[in-house]
Amino acid sequence: MKIFLTGGAGFIGSNFIRHVLGLRKGYQVVNYDKLTYAGNLANLQEVAGDPSYQFVKGDICDAPRVEEAMRGADAVVHFAAESHVDRSIYEPAPVIETNVTGTFVLLQVARTLRVPRFVHISTDEVYGDMAPDGVAHEDSPLQPSSPYSSSKAGSDLIVRSYVRTYGFPALITRSSNNYGPYQFPEKFLPLMITNALDDKPLPIYGDGRQQRDWLHVEDNCRGILAVLEKGRVGEVYNIGGLDVEENISIARRLLRLTGKPESLLSYVQDRPGHDRRYALRCDKMAEHLGWKPAMALEDGLRQTIDWYKSHGEWLSGVRGGAYRSYYAKYYENRDASLGEIAPVGSKSSS
Ligand code: NAD
Ligand code: TYD
Repeated sequence: MKIFLTGGAGFIGSNFIRHVLGLRKGYQVVNYDKLTYAGNLANLQEVAGDPSYQFVKGDICDAPRVEEAMRGADAVVHFAAESHVDRSIYEPAPVIETNVTGTFVLLQVARTLRVPRFVHISTDEVYGDMAPDGVAHEDSPLQPSSPYSSSKAGSDLIVRSYVRTYGFPALITRSSNNYGPYQFPEKFLPLMITNALDDKPLPIYGDGRQQRDWLHVEDNCRGILAVLEKGRVGEVYNIGGLDVEENISIARRLLRLTGKPESLLSYVQDRPGHDRRYALRCDKMAEHLGWKPAMALEDGLRQTIDWYKSHGEWLSGVRGGAYRSYYAKYYENRDASLGEIAPVGSKSSS
C-alpha cells in the first residue's frame, strides 16, 4: 500500500509514520508537509533513510503540487492542520485556510485521481462543550466553540458531503487529546512537563477544572491504522483514551511525578470560549475493529516525562526564538495579548 500522508512532520503524523513503517513491511509512505512552525523533520530521523519513506515539502492548499505528489497513492491519511486552539484564537486566518480549504483541495485531487481510500483525521472538539457528565458518540451534534474546532467541523462536513454526493471512499477519526513523544510544547501536557522540569510556573487557565480525555499517541496510531485497513467507508470513528481528568489534577500528577513543588502552579487568565469538558464514547472502535486503548494514563505520563528528559537537544531545537516570542506574548503579557485582533488576511504560519 502506498500512503499519501499529510502533516507527517508534526506530532501525531510522525508517530504514525514510525508506527506504520515499523509494523507493515511493503507499505510505502509519502509524507507531504509544509513544515510550518509545528512541522519538524527531526521528528522523523529514525525513518529518514528508509527506502519506504519519502518526504515532499508542500502546502495542502497548492492543488497542482498535491496532485503531482498524490499520483499513484492507494490511500490518503490526512493529518495536516493548524492544530492549536490558542493560536486559532489569536490568528484564525491560517487555521481556516489550511483546515478547511486544504482539506477541500485534498478531497478534490483524491477524487480526480480516484484514490480508493481517504482517512480524514479529526478531533473530539467538533462536538463542543459537553454537559458535566456528557459523553459524545459519533452521531452527536457538532457544536464547535473555537476557530480551530469550527474549522475541523467544517472539514468533517465537507468530507461527509463527498461521501454522500460522490460516493467518495472517505472515513473520519475523531480522537481526544493526544500526548506522548515529539509533541510541540505549546500544548498542555508538554508545556507543563517542560516547564516543571525547568522549575518554571505551570500556567493553569481559569479555575483549572476543565476536563479532557487523554489518549496516548501510540494508542491513537494503532486505532488510525485499524481504521485505514479495516474501517467501513463513510463511518466516523471516535478514538478516546477513556481517561477523563481535570487539568489541575493532571498538573498536580505531573508535579508529583517530576518531584516538583505545587507552588509552581500559577492560575492565569482563562482562554476565551474555553470548553469545560470533552469525553467520548468509543464503542464503535471496539465493535467494528476490536480496538481499545492500552496505555494507562499514569504509565503514559511517566514515559512521556522520561522522553522529554532524555531529548534535550530536540527540545532546544523546537524552543528557539519563535517559540520564545510566542511564549512571552501569550503567557508573560497575557492580558494585553488576548485583547489584540489579528488582520483578516494574516499569512499562513511558518
Ligand atoms: P501538529 O500541529 O503537531 O502538526 C501539524 C503538521 O501539519 C505539521 O507538520 C505542519 O507542518 C503540517 N501543516 C500545517 N499546515 C500545513 C499545510 N497547509 N500544508 C501541509 N502541511 C501543513 O498537529 P498534531 O497534533 O500532530 O495533529 C495532527 C492532526 O490530528 C490534526 O488534524 C489535528 O486536528 C488532529 N488532532 C490532534 C489532536 C492532538 O491532541 N494533538 C487531537 C485530536 C485530533
Ligand atoms: P490544549 O493542549 O491546548 O488542548 P485543547 O484545548 O485542544 O483540548 O489544552 C488542553 C487543556 O489545558 C485545555 O483545557 C486548556 C488547558 N491549558 C492550560 O490550562 N494551560 C495552558 O498553558 C495550555 C496550553 C492549556
